[in-house]
Amino acid sequence: MNTTTSGTIMDELTAGAISPKDIVEELIGKIDIADASFQLTLFFIAFNPIFWNIIARLEHSTHFLTQLAGNNAKRGCYILAIIIFSLGIGRDMVFQETLNHQESSVLLELPLIRNLGVASFLIGQLLVITSMYQLGITGTYLGDYFGILMNERVTGFPFNVSNNPMYHGSTLSFLGTSLYFAKPSGVAITAFVYMMYCIALRFEEPFTAAIYAKRDAGKLSKNI
Ligand SMILES: *[C@@H]1O[C@H](CO)[C@@H](O)[C@H](O)[C@H]1NC(C)=O
Ligand SMILES: *[C@@H]1O[C@H](CO)[C@@H](O)[C@H](O)[C@H]1NC(C)=O
Repeated sequence: MNTTTSGTIMDELTAGAISPKDIVEELIGKIDIADASFQLTLFFIAFNPIFWNIIARLEHSTHFLTQLAGNNAKRGCYILAIIIFSLGIGRDMVFQETLNHQESSVLLELPLIRNLGVASFLIGQLLVITSMYQLGITGTYLGDYFGILMNERVTGFPFNVSNNPMYHGSTLSFLGTSLYFAKPSGVAITAFVYMMYCIALRFEEPFTAAIYAKRDAGKLSKNI
């Protein structure tokens, strides 16, 4: 592909001069999987949810963080929140670093794609920020594993548009950043993010449901 201006790419695309095979080859050709920071990004993306699930379950069974925080569950949860938040910052930094030196693709440099990237990022951030606002620190950062439960299920926005606005928002932010910078490697990383969150949810959702079911069973027996 020797064209460099998005105008001509657009012409070729609409004229059908570029086949789907060309598109896939062009995009995949721009991903350097041997790049150490690309690999480090994937490592962070996988490591973070595995780490917080292990720590949270340990906390649930041993209360080690609560004890570490002077027998204060809330403070224990804040410690975990700071660790998870910092890991997220680290992950975002290596992700940005990776995008900086992976190649862009002229196919993604179209103004339309760039605008989609901006929209995706803004919607993603909106979902993340509003769900954090709804849940608070302990609700966002696995407070239920510390025995800090929400009084009732949050049903307002963004929970009326997404079951997991935090994860969906984060995925949309990765996608938006990747499209904005026209990086096929970023899109590949986004697919990995999505996959890891799906796996994390398979562990987190049943566990959280069980914690709440236990609480509600307790409430019920008190009422009887
Ligand atoms: C670019 O590709 C077109 C065909 O797609 C070809 O006609 C043209 O000669 C090429 N230009 C350069 C500079 O390679
Ligand atoms: C979700 O809630 C918001 C705010 O209450 C509301 O404006 C929006 O229409 C709701 N969306 C859906 C799909 O119910």
